[in-house]
Amino acid sequence: MATNLQIVLKQKPEGKLSERHFEQRDGALPVPKDGEVLLRTLLLSLDAANRAWMEGATYRQGVAPGDVMHGYAICEVLESKADTIRPGTVVFAEAGWQQFATAAATDVSPCPDVKPLSHLHSIVGIAGKTAYHGLIYVAGIEPGETLFVSAAAGSVGSVVGQIGKLKGARVVGTAGSTDKCQWVVDELGFDGCINYKEENVGEKLAELCPDGVDVYFDNTGGPILQAALLAMKQRGRIACCGAVSDYDTGQPMRGVVGIPGLLVVRRLRMEDFIVLDLDAERQAQAERDLSNWAKEGKIKVIEDVIDGLENAPRGLVGLLAGENRGKRMIRVGPDPE
Ligand SMILES: NC(=O)c1ccc[n+]([C@@H]2O[C@H](COP(=O)([O-])OP(=O)(O)OC[C@H]3O[C@@H](n4cnc5c(N)ncnc54)[C@H](OP(=O)(O)O)[C@@H]3O)[C@@H](O)[C@H]2O)c1
Repeated sequence: MATNLQIVLKQKPEGKLSERHFEQRDGALPVPKDGEVLLRTLLLSLDAANRAWMEGATYRQGVAPGDVMHGYAICEVLESKADTIRPGTVVFAEAGWQQFATAAATDVSPCPDVKPLSHLHSIVGIAGKTAYHGLIYVAGIEPGETLFVSAAAGSVGSVVGQIGKLKGARVVGTAGSTDKCQWVVDELGFDGCINYKEENVGEKLAELCPDGVDVYFDNTGGPILQAALLAMKQRGRIACCGAVSDYDTGQPMRGVVGIPGLLVVRRLRMEDFIVLDLDAERQAQAERDLSNWAKEGKIKVIEDVIDGLENAPRGLVGLLAGENRGKRMIRVGPDPE
């Protein structure tokens, strides 16, 4: 009988996540009920937020010990017990860390016709759309402005910086090693990059952005947000995308000094956003622009694909430690023929 490799969260991490917090299980092949579809997972997205979900409910439900680890995936419909969707359709689904899953047909959405499918996680997926939404709609970047972005070598940050350059901004990022910083400048075209693990971010920011920062795209929160806040120009904007510096600590929700004081004095706007809130029209515009920029070679699509579902725990632990460049995902099964 066919089995279903699954990866389960065994234990809630108290501090840093490690591979020992997960275990593998051979589940049975699930059987769809009326109105459901049977899915085969092709490409599973690994996201920094996966770690935050282990702390409890966020903008979505949390993951509890004993659960198959949650995750967004691109899947093939193998069998359908719903009139609305046919076998062979490639869909987005909350399939989780498993080879096969069932889902209500109403909870999956057909993917647009994009090849390679990996681009549906990277440039025209959550990563690219988050970058686009935060930088263009939330922060409203303008030509000639100075943009600072944290986790610049990561999936969202690498696109933010490249869009910033396209829009005529001066762009400075942060990354966690000298090698990554060099790559961000040489390969992605940033004007500068600060190794936040070895350099004083405030001092380096003053050196690289002597007139201050107009837009800070915040992927990290924590000490980098603190340094950025102090470097902001009058009428600057901070787009709050995420707080990865908090996720893997066991002590989420740490704050910074200067709110609201600095916001008032410098007339700053600090605004959060979730990419899922993007309305259909703006989403379509973002997809069009991102895919054109990629086709025209104006933006490099950086993907970091790891083979094999069994490597997902190592992949997530490594992502949180800064191992990845660009969008990390797991190849669970081959594309449909
Ligand atoms: N608002 C939304 O709708 C939305 C959607 C998608 C993602 N996000 C957010 O975007 C951010 C990036 O997520 P992602 O999934 O794209 O991951 P990613 O940037 O591809 O990978 C995470 C990166 O964070 C950096 N990092 C880890 N710990 C850090 C720390 N303590 N301080 C500073 N940097 C640290 C690491 O690189 P280095 O240490 O080498 O820099 C790592 O590569 C996250 O905050 C995530 O929650 C938000």
